[in-house]
Amino acid sequence: MSEPVVSQAAEPAVPRHVAIIMDGNGRWAKARGLPRNLGHRQGVDAVREVVRGCRSLGIRYLTLYAFSSENWKRPQSEVSGLMDLLRLYIRRELKELAGGGVRIRVIGDRSKLDADIRDLIADAEAQTRDNTVLTLVIALSYGGQDEIVAACRRIAEEVAAGRLQPEQIDAGVVAGQLHTVGIPDPDIVIRTSGEQRLSNFLLWQTAYSELIFVDKLWPDFGQQDLAAAVAEFQRRERRYGGTGE
Ligand code: FPP
Repeated sequence: MSEPVVSQAAEPAVPRHVAIIMDGNGRWAKARGLPRNLGHRQGVDAVREVVRGCRSLGIRYLTLYAFSSENWKRPQSEVSGLMDLLRLYIRRELKELAGGGVRIRVIGDRSKLDADIRDLIADAEAQTRDNTVLTLVIALSYGGQDEIVAACRRIAEEVAAGRLQPEQIDAGVVAGQLHTVGIPDPDIVIRTSGEQRLSNFLLWQTAYSELIFVDKLWPDFGQQDLAAAVAEFQRRERRYGGTGE
């Protein structure tokens, strides 16, 4: 008797890289009559949840938009509250993250950060550089346009010095000058709080990302919401400009 034919449906692909615009901390706090910084503090709990969620789903890269180049315009008390949260997060969680195989990378303009935060970041990156389970990319003082402008400037310098010919410039050369060099482009960008825009986040890298907008405010976002976004990604057909045939 011949063996029964078992149809083996292919496992849906787990996204390699999830990037998140963590929006809605202020509204979360306001709805409770609390100061905005308490919304950000609650947002750190959501960060912890999502890092756990990525590890259990097998996602290899997670990028979090923690502070944009435009966020410097916020009131000084909110800016310093956010910087304190970042200090606390790195100090408190580094051991657990490092022990769990998480590599930390920070992208953005570090020159604007306080020296002690720059040192903390450099130390966290050095301590975790050989970890491979999950790369946690924190976008801090980050702006996509600034990143592309800086890349153009470096490429122009290479051309001016005669080390690069203009016709050698292609997408790979540009990508090689971005903060995200070596990191695959995001498969998914999630934005919470119902807003539907990119707000200067990973402008080059999101050319073919699936955009998923979620109504929940960031402090309410958890592992189940991450899993739901992944399921939504798995239902979508990515065609990269082709026909999908
Ligand atoms: C946007 O909400 C959120 C931010 C500008 C900050 C996000 C930062 C954290 C969640 C904490 C620190 C991060 C890490 C990685 C430890 P909003 O304040 O613009 O909300 P609103 O639109 O409701 O006012």
